[in-house]
Amino acid sequence: MKFLIINGPNLNLLGLREPDIYGRQDFKALEQFIRDACAAAGVEATLFQSNHEGAIVDVIQQAYGNYDGIVINPAAYTHTSVAILDALKAVSIPAVEVHLSDVTKRESFRQISYAGMACIKSYIGLGFEGYRQAVLYLKDYLEGRI
Ligand code: DQA
Repeated sequence: MKFLIINGPNLNLLGLREPDIYGRQDFKALEQFIRDACAAAGVEATLFQSNHEGAIVDVIQQAYGNYDGIVINPAAYTHTSVAILDALKAVSIPAVEVHLSDVTKRESFRQISYAGMACIKSYIGLGFEGYRQAVLYLKDYLEGRI
């Protein structure tokens, strides 16, 4: 089973950026956490991070026929990008949305998630653990347990 894990803009600055909201662990630590979670679940993972909307659309398109599932934290593009929503719908690969922070308790402009409209599940406000939950949920879903 092959999963594509996508992280959007500014997540590469974890640790440095707004630590009160996103924590003090850096992006390298997040990537290691995701790799370990995937390995423990017996899932093959490809990790991708970009600060560019088009690059994220491209990688979703290229996932077609190559990946069984997508875990995506589109970061700020969550709240703006119809292009990422359309790409997820176009490829129809089961996708799970993750947000480190609890966006439901933040600014009003964070209350809409376009990408989430194409996702089978969202994990919000669980920090790194959200990615592990997303991987386990996707695996259960693809193996027909959900
Ligand atoms: C985020 C929440 C977004 O609103 C924000 O723009 C991010 C990170 C999160 O993981 O909590 O960059 O997706």
